[in-house]
Amino acid sequence: MSPTVAFNSGVTMPAIGLGVFQTAPEETVAAVQTALELGYRHIDTAAAYLNEREVGEGLRRSGVPREEVFIETKVWVTDYGYEQTLHAFEKSAKKLGVEQLDLLLLHQPLTAKFERTIQAYKALEKLLSDGAVRAIGVSNLVPARLDALLAETDIVPAVNQIELHPYNIRAELQAKNTAHGIVTQAWSPIGGIRSYNGEPTNPLNDPTIRAIGKGYGKSNAQVILRWHIQQGRSAIPKSINAERIAQNFNVFDFELTNDELARVDALDTGDTLDIDNLDTESFGIVIDEA
Ligand code: A2P
Repeated sequence: MSPTVAFNSGVTMPAIGLGVFQTAPEETVAAVQTALELGYRHIDTAAAYLNEREVGEGLRRSGVPREEVFIETKVWVTDYGYEQTLHAFEKSAKKLGVEQLDLLLLHQPLTAKFERTIQAYKALEKLLSDGAVRAIGVSNLVPARLDALLAETDIVPAVNQIELHPYNIRAELQAKNTAHGIVTQAWSPIGGIRSYNGEPTNPLNDPTIRAIGKGYGKSNAQVILRWHIQQGRSAIPKSINAERIAQNFNVFDFELTNDELARVDALDTGDTLDIDNLDTESFGIVIDEA
């Protein structure tokens, strides 16, 4: 069973969840069902992944009671604004087939139109106070954007989900989250982003990580997930392969030393995808009605 991380509100979340970013709808049901059968109790999706319906279907097919599974999703930028974001919750909940969400995030800031991001967050605050969601948070907020959000809103986000893996450890942003009692959740936690981007090296074939794993009989992915857990983060590795889904959950029976954790930290390249300045509205992603 995954250890949990506790939010500033007292709600807890299993540290390791299954990610379904880039999981095609037709592969999602099986991936979610497999993960839940293997013991995962946390699934991370997003309206913009266009697979919320299939996540819901996987949950139902698994037979695991709804209340045992932590379901997290994200509002896409085209649904930002107070009323629009309240409606975005309805769309996501209906597609997932659940009445209440465990965690609802803003997918990323609309930096050039930040007021709409603020209005969207105020809608999350309303959903939280109404009990429609158990926790609220953000994703891809850099320190300056987090400061701006905190200055204009009442409830400190439970989570800031950011790109974070051994080649990109975001030390300043992690420290910022921690200072505010915000849980850091890693997306692309094992470095998948680098292979999607065609980089020749990524943490999954890093020799330092391989050498550490050898001592424990663990793969690079397992060492990296352990590194996240031991540093207090949540991580949501994506896989559609049953063996790798299992492997990514077999990380609770060994312990890295402080020296090994530091050796992984030292792999940082500082190379981060600059989402803060992306014009994500122009991606053309449409979040349909449920
Ligand atoms: P696949 O879905 O075929 O398993 P991230 O979550 O960091 O973005 O990484 C996801 C990528 O890493 C996907 O391409 C996924 O492919 C692959 N992956 C997931 N788990 C493992 C693993 N244990 N070993 C190697 N590759 C993995």
